[in-house]
Amino acid sequence: MPTDPLRIALVGAGGIGRAHRNAWSKVPGAQIVAVVDVDADRAQTMAADLGAQSFTDAAAMLPAVKPDAVDVCTPPAMHQAPVEAALAAGAHVICEKPLADTPTHAFAICEAAAASGKLLMTAFCHRFHPPVARLKELIDAGALGRIGMFRNRFAGPFKGIEDVWFSNPDISGGGCLMDTSVHSVDLFRFLVGEVKRAQGAGVLLNERLRPGVEDTAAMLLESKSGAIGVIEASWTLQGGVNVIEVYGTEGVAEVHYWDGFPSRYKTGTMDAWEPLPEEGDRFVGELTHFAQAIRGDAPLLVTGHDGLRAVEVIYEAYATFAW
Ligand SMILES: NC(=O)c1ccc[n+]([C@@H]2O[C@H](COP(=O)([O-])OP(=O)(O)OC[C@H]3O[C@@H](n4cnc5c(N)ncnc54)[C@H](O)[C@@H]3O)[C@@H](O)[C@H]2O)c1
Repeated sequence: MPTDPLRIALVGAGGIGRAHRNAWSKVPGAQIVAVVDVDADRAQTMAADLGAQSFTDAAAMLPAVKPDAVDVCTPPAMHQAPVEAALAAGAHVICEKPLADTPTHAFAICEAAAASGKLLMTAFCHRFHPPVARLKELIDAGALGRIGMFRNRFAGPFKGIEDVWFSNPDISGGGCLMDTSVHSVDLFRFLVGEVKRAQGAGVLLNERLRPGVEDTAAMLLESKSGAIGVIEASWTLQGGVNVIEVYGTEGVAEVHYWDGFPSRYKTGTMDAWEPLPEEGDRFVGELTHFAQAIRGDAPLLVTGHDGLRAVEVIYEAYATFAW
């Protein structure tokens, strides 16, 4: 049985690790008791703030701490080892996206989760973004009719990308498609349905990045239900309108990010656009859901399989790149 409060170990105290630390502090009945980072100073600094123990190795932390759950926030090629060790030690796991750097590694992670009988959640935070969650309810209720098109742009300059692991495919598993559009593939699967086919095109605009890494890309998806998805990503071009748009036979919706436009929807029977709710933090939402699922209060909404499928779809698109 899970403890009260849930005892959480955070592995990877970098950028998203800090966002998860802040979000965990708002999750009722959960407490970070250990922080792991190969950078000992980073681990100690965060652990000291939290009154938690610090470690430089997840394998050493697990028998010493015996956490209920492990939150893996390391770079993609460093997901598999701590996730599998945590599952083998009897902990539930939430792992950042992409689930792994390759489909093979993501598949192995899913097999390990199945063998352990523990929960494995892929941290697809956008499913918990309030306007997206409301849009999903509207689609499921049939308010937009049959969904035929989906468009998503997540783009904007990533300063310093040349100097960090994101642009090293040996660690990241790819370029901006793997990093950013993995979210978009999951949103397409969540809102529209399973992907039947994926095609992609990528270019490299930033000459300081190593050849073979796309910093600007687009993907075309087809769903098994017969809908089309257009996905755009860039680390180099200006962001412009960052949006999810969904078009159905009876209505249309748009969810905006960072571009100042309101998220809203309209159906054929409505006189005016209705706002979609914007209040609420998606990281708090995803971690609250994970805690509820551990306690048996909710079925797990995002699984390891969802993480695996997103990586598979990105690889399918990579296989169609012309370069
Ligand atoms: N959900 C989102 O919106 C979102 C946003 C940014 C990043 N991410 C994902 O989060 C993960 C981490 O990204 P980031 O931006 O925090 O990177 P980061 O480089 O800022 O932090 C990664 C941390 O992991 C540590 N680390 C590396 N290998 C380790 C290991 N074997 N054991 C323990 N610690 C290790 C590093 O020292 C570093 O502190 C990636 O998978 C990334 O794609 C998700």
